[in-house]
Amino acid sequence: MTEPVTVFAVPGNEALAQDLANALNGEQGDLVVRQFPDGETYVRGDSRCQGNDAVIAANLFQPNPTFLPLIYAIRAVRDMGAKRIVLATPYLPYMRQDARFQPGEVITSRIFANLLSDELDGLVTVDPHLHRYAALSDIYSIPTCLGHAAPALANWINDHVEEPLIIGPDMESEQWVAEVGGLAGAPYTTLTKTRYGDRDVAISVPALDRWNDHTPVLVDDIISTARTMVEAVGHLLRAGFSAPVCVGVHAIFADGAYADLKDAGASTVATCNTVEHESNAIDINRIVADSIAVLLASEDSANEAQENNHAH
Ligand code: R5P
Repeated sequence: MTEPVTVFAVPGNEALAQDLANALNGEQGDLVVRQFPDGETYVRGDSRCQGNDAVIAANLFQPNPTFLPLIYAIRAVRDMGAKRIVLATPYLPYMRQDARFQPGEVITSRIFANLLSDELDGLVTVDPHLHRYAALSDIYSIPTCLGHAAPALANWINDHVEEPLIIGPDMESEQWVAEVGGLAGAPYTTLTKTRYGDRDVAISVPALDRWNDHTPVLVDDIISTARTMVEAVGHLLRAGFSAPVCVGVHAIFADGAYADLKDAGASTVATCNTVEHESNAIDINRIVADSIAVLLASEDSANEAQENNHAH
């Protein structure tokens, strides 16, 4: 039987914590987190959650400044007596350095996963960038549950775009666009991308003439420098398509990237609120809550099964 849930917010995550507490029928806990004038962090836990499951809402989109306060928050919640602590981070950072491309490079994804796994009992996120890792369990040793934005993207596309043609910017996105296309009942295709540097991307476009009367909808998991989308938008416009709609899960938008994408000729840019940004149009907090419920329930059943085995 799942325990009551207490949801704590690290500053900046109050709306997410509120939505999670509502959706999980839980209560909100008090955590005081503030900065001293010298930049160090002060944390005080102000609730009791003895025996409860605790969720910490802490989006790690900017991982370097948010990581240490999160660790202190986890320790505070442990001291308050939480039974299990699950982190809800709609965006999971440090997933893209998933290999050593040059000698001496640090595989930060593994180190980050180890640090979090040492502190937590579970982690929930939305569509992490799984490229060379097949699953989060390749690097995280704690239970994880992944929310999946594709159905929400497909709903948004159905509600806002006439005759969409779903386009993935690279071969990696094929499964992803196939799902969105299937759910939206729309044709889909993928382009070919070669990345030469952080801000240097080349895209080639297959023959798309048969869909010329459709509205192109570029779909990607992460929009970071937006070079991928900018290049793809340019190709589609030159191929005679109407202004493309750009849909992304994680609106990272590094310096100037959003303006670049608008200037390139995108008609609309719509993203999920996994990273707070003015393009957010698709709410995924419910998906995060559902994933937490699934994670806690599956751990409960695993524990019950283990207890039953011991009893026999
Ligand atoms: C890469 O494989 C991802 O799926 C995205 O295509 C990529 O992260 C987008 O990056 P950028 O916006 O910097 O081109």
